[in-house]
Amino acid sequence: MQVILLGAPGAGKGTQAVQISKRLGLAHIASGDLFRQEQASGSELGKIAKSYMEKGQLVPDEVTVKMILGRISRPDCAKGILLDGFPRTLDQAKALDAALAKEGKGIDLVLYIKVPNEELIGRLSGRWICRECQVPYNVVAAPPKVAGKCDKCGGELYQRADDTEETVRKRLDVYFAQTAPLIEYYTSAGKLAEVDGEQGIEQVGRDLIKIIEARDK
Ligand code: AP5
Ligand code: MG
Ligand code: ZN
Repeated sequence: MQVILLGAPGAGKGTQAVQISKRLGLAHIASGDLFRQEQASGSELGKIAKSYMEKGQLVPDEVTVKMILGRISRPDCAKGILLDGFPRTLDQAKALDAALAKEGKGIDLVLYIKVPNEELIGRLSGRWICRECQVPYNVVAAPPKVAGKCDKCGGELYQRADDTEETVRKRLDVYFAQTAPLIEYYTSAGKLAEVDGEQGIEQVGRDLIKIIEARDK
């Protein structure tokens, strides 16, 4: 299966992707995580990405598409992929469709996690992420068992530089201008399913799994 998780910054894409990919055996491909890894390694791509990410802007399509198509051509993606944070523009969506079509594949399902705006800013200001395995925590909704440490791997938790209120507002503007049109794109293609992302983390997860399993039969 080729599945996309769509939703605004803070909707819970990363939170759900970690669980779902493990349960269904899909490769979790998160464009933001890949860019952050490139930054940490000090690569040229990482430097380019940083200059956009710190302003809350999208990294240019050309750079992003190249990175993701390279990643999804790797062997671990043969069993299926769960995309988190990509595509984010119509051009990215079209490039993805074209690349999958060349291999006789296509997107099976787009899961749209819907959360009202006011809720998103609060969630991101309370987010802490594992430096090692990227699992997101939240001081209110999903605190780690030991403060500052990842439950899963013991890694150190940190706050993302782009999770300040000012940059989050910019990311939300960018989302509504450039990414929200994908809701219409995938609805027209008969691929979109919507989930209420304001529910608790576990319930959102159950709803997502139910939709995927129904589609997989
Ligand atoms: P990226 O890393 O993808 O960030 P994002 O889309 O802004 O999304 P987030 O990771 O902030 O939110 P999420 O939905 O994963 O939420 P999470 O599960 O962590 O991208 C960063 C940047 O990279 C972009 O701004 C751009 O510059 C660049 N980039 C990336 N992809 C790109 C692309 N395709 N094209 C161009 N540029 C690109 O949850 C958030 C918080 O809420 C956590 O604390 C969590 O614990 C909590 N939470 C989760 N679910 C719930 C719930 N149900 N109830 C209560 N709290 C919850
Ligand atoms: Mg994320
Ligand atoms: Zn960890």
